[in-house]
Amino acid sequence: MKRIAVLTSGGDSPGMNAAIRAVVRKASYHGVEVMGIFHGYEGFIEGRMELLDLGSVGGIIQRGGTKLFSSRCPQFKEDRYQYQGIEKMREANVEGLVVIGGDGSYRGAHALSQKGFPCVGVPGTIDNDIPGTEYTIGFDTALNTVIESIDKIRDTATSHENSFVVEVMGRDAGDIALWAGLAAGAESILIPEESYNIDDIVNRIKRGEARGKKHSIIIVAEGVMSGSELAKILKEKANIITRVSVLGHIQRGGSPSARDRVLAGRLGAKAVEVLLEGRSGRAIGINNHQIIDYDIEEVFINKHKADVTLYTLSKELSI
Ligand code: F6P
Repeated sequence: MKRIAVLTSGGDSPGMNAAIRAVVRKASYHGVEVMGIFHGYEGFIEGRMELLDLGSVGGIIQRGGTKLFSSRCPQFKEDRYQYQGIEKMREANVEGLVVIGGDGSYRGAHALSQKGFPCVGVPGTIDNDIPGTEYTIGFDTALNTVIESIDKIRDTATSHENSFVVEVMGRDAGDIALWAGLAAGAESILIPEESYNIDDIVNRIKRGEARGKKHSIIIVAEGVMSGSELAKILKEKANIITRVSVLGHIQRGGSPSARDRVLAGRLGAKAVEVLLEGRSGRAIGINNHQIIDYDIEEVFINKHKADVTLYTLSKELSI
């Protein structure tokens, strides 16, 4: 291959820039050019791209967001748009593509591979919900953002002896809620993968009160219900008054952590290696500290699972 392309798609995540940089630098190392496609699959369909030289990815390793912009592109599910994009790539002599994004973005990469256009997926999402990889780029930074916020909430919760419901991102996956809850010492954690019991949450708060603790932090992943819904239930069921804090999109921003930058570098470089070896339809991931690649179909066949041991531990530690 003489020229490949890279795009970022779906919800952005801190470390996407570091991954773009790794793709460009690794390809350059092998004498291969990289085109940066703007606005994800939208730009792919229209051939909206420019050549990324070594200097163009300088000074971005520490920046959140994505230099290439991102989009969610529902029309890319249609064959005709996929073929249109492939045509644009062929016109520009692009022979392969690295897609950095979440599982929706992987579906596009899979479709392109099946149509004979070489593609690999690099996991970039704060949700940490891509089957086959233990971590995704951006998860660690998002966690740090969340626990910094919860620590601050706890300061005021302690001072005013208030309880808080904190709503975090995660429509289908509870990793942010679970890991941040453990790291910030939350009293209860609600995630989409595990059923919850309101009586259990109430009892935890009451047990705390009985031993003189006047505040609690309850974390709810948005996929379970909204923070205000949970606050309403607690009020109606047990007359527990809580303040609600919705962390929202701050979770997707910020300078990537060291861990995310290193992960992005390793995964981005591996994606280039896989493409240059002539392989397609692969997902790149990390497993037991090793960078791996596997059939991208596994991402759709398997379902993301929350780490049950962490969930159990969180309950034990917040007794
Ligand atoms: O990218 C993943 C994610 O951050 C989810 O956690 C969240 O549910 C979703 O994106 C929000 O997306 P949008 O900004 O498009 O509403």
